[in-house]
Amino acid sequence: MNRPLTPTRKPAATRTLAPKSAVPPARVNPQRANGVAHASGQPRLPLALPEPGLHLDQDAEWFLVKLDGEWRQIRFHDYGAIYNVPGLYERIFYDILKCKSPEVLSEALAHALEEAGVNPRELRVLDLGAGNGMVGERLRALGASRLIGADILPEAAAATRRDRPSVYDAYRVLDFMNLSPAERDALVQERLNCLTCVAALGFGDIPAAAFLAAFDLVERDGWIAFTIKDSFVQDRSGSEFAELIHSLESDGRLRIVCRQRYQHRLSTGGVPLYYVCFIGRKQEPAIP
Ligand SMILES: C[S@@+](CC[C@H](N)C(=O)[O-])C[C@H]1O[C@@H](n2cnc3c(N)ncnc32)[C@H](O)[C@@H]1O
Repeated sequence: MNRPLTPTRKPAATRTLAPKSAVPPARVNPQRANGVAHASGQPRLPLALPEPGLHLDQDAEWFLVKLDGEWRQIRFHDYGAIYNVPGLYERIFYDILKCKSPEVLSEALAHALEEAGVNPRELRVLDLGAGNGMVGERLRALGASRLIGADILPEAAAATRRDRPSVYDAYRVLDFMNLSPAERDALVQERLNCLTCVAALGFGDIPAAAFLAAFDLVERDGWIAFTIKDSFVQDRSGSEFAELIHSLESDGRLRIVCRQRYQHRLSTGGVPLYYVCFIGRKQEPAIP
């Protein structure tokens, strides 16, 4: 997943978003705006996306960024390489491709809590696939009293420490497929009553078994809030998550209170990509 950066010549089939001459040398505002945090003191990096007509599968999307005078090609799913460059994740996914997922999920969760008469301050959240803290920032603003971030990549933890040091109460680098007894016990001690997982299921990211391990760390009647690509939900033969969500709901382990299809972001070709946001209440353990 975390491949080394490959220096490349800039291919012809790209459109440059910020050629060097157009890049103001001004420092980026370190204040957070609309939930997007910019790295303090970082000049805007020149970026280039593939030409608009070029169709790429979502897990093959890439961009070019000029770092230390060299154009480098980075796949979107090489998260570690992106997190290592301050402000790059925010710039490509939020400023340019208009990602809305953390906003949509936090608003849907806020609405569901209100409907249920639950104060957000009661939330003790595990944010699974937390990345560099974009979701945690929203949950903190919502009022969650305890926030634990978890990601499989040490680069995600390092970027969160660097860019959003006060968002999580604790941030753990963990593989939920292989939690040690000590790691599991530490999470049980947190008495979690909410799991969030945003844009991190499928595509070789968090597998269903890891999601279920996290689901079972949440107390009964706790909140399960996640987003996932719409086709992964619709196609029960093509994704383990479609079948999983269907069976969790149909046998009563999860009561879904909100299911909202929304535009997650644009593709590099400018085409809207749709996800579904689920908010539910855990009724029974996922793994008996
Ligand atoms: C698209 S990013 C989303 C990050 C964050 N949720 C957000 O919305 O900004 C997906 C994240 O899932 C993490 N991830 C992938 N596989 C994982 C796994 N097995 N366990 C935990 N995190 C994982 C990646 O490292 C990456 O940080």
